[in-house]
Amino acid sequence: MSISRTKLTVVGAGYVGSTCAQLAASKDLASEVCLIDVVEGRPQGIALDLNQMAAVEGFASRVTGTNDPADTADSDVVIMTAGKPRTPGMSRSDLLVTNGRVICAVAEYIRDSSPDAIVIVVTNPLDSMVHLMRARTGFTARKVVGMAGVLDSARLRYFAAEATGTAARDAEAMVLGAHGDSMVPLAEHMSVAGVALGSILDAQKIDALSDRTRRGGAEIVGLLKTGSAWYAPAASAVSMAAAILRDEQRLMPTACLLNGQYGLEGLYMGVPAVLGATGVESIVELPLAAEDRIQMQKTAGAISLDLETLREAGLL
Ligand code: 2OP
Repeated sequence: MSISRTKLTVVGAGYVGSTCAQLAASKDLASEVCLIDVVEGRPQGIALDLNQMAAVEGFASRVTGTNDPADTADSDVVIMTAGKPRTPGMSRSDLLVTNGRVICAVAEYIRDSSPDAIVIVVTNPLDSMVHLMRARTGFTARKVVGMAGVLDSARLRYFAAEATGTAARDAEAMVLGAHGDSMVPLAEHMSVAGVALGSILDAQKIDALSDRTRRGGAEIVGLLKTGSAWYAPAASAVSMAAAILRDEQRLMPTACLLNGQYGLEGLYMGVPAVLGATGVESIVELPLAAEDRIQMQKTAGAISLDLETLREAGLL
């Protein structure tokens, strides 16, 4: 009998990381879910709690908690959540250099001990952190992706569902571009159970949903006051990990390294991509409305500024 063992490592045992570990274990996404953090005791305590939860919930994944990077060796997928979250008044870019240093440290041990891993970055500011992760691991671009579009689209889907009195799971939307104020919600691709949103709501209302989505992360930071969202970010990252570990070939808005697609080259940003066992199986080029094409260029400009700051700090 051949036994197939799979390992998913979650870096960072804060709210996003520990919720990723819980969701991944509950869904039996991997035979081992390894949770690592620099804080002594925290990943071990969460692992113990989750393993006891398995007795009630019936999942088979084993959760390990550690402070030692050696324990992450031979991971198939790594979800990178470590880094500081925003507090009220901060933009995601304010975290650039602080979180950039964390990315560099983690990239080093992923590169050395899990050379075949596919990495999903969640740490903010997302687009430049995933760029840095790829540069520092030296992995091929298809194996390093960023989670933002699934989350931003989930927010828009919920707002569309709320506005139409329908279930969030029936609402569809695609948000591209940077994970920041310049993100690009595609109005012409919003629907509820296949019915174009434009035939249910007027353009002004749809614009308001898009605007609320752009401020979606900040709205939650403003309410929480001490940190940022974690349930929807964790669910989004785990859905991408599932697409990869189960080779689902799902079309998901994903931060990918662009190589001419959408007229852009050499930077990571959110585009529709098919995710499967090799990571990014393909990038899909949708025909965009003229206004959205302009927004894609603007969002690329915002990301380039962050990359420049990383270069000035000697990190990139
Ligand atoms: C958010 O938008 C954490 O950036 C993440 O909530």
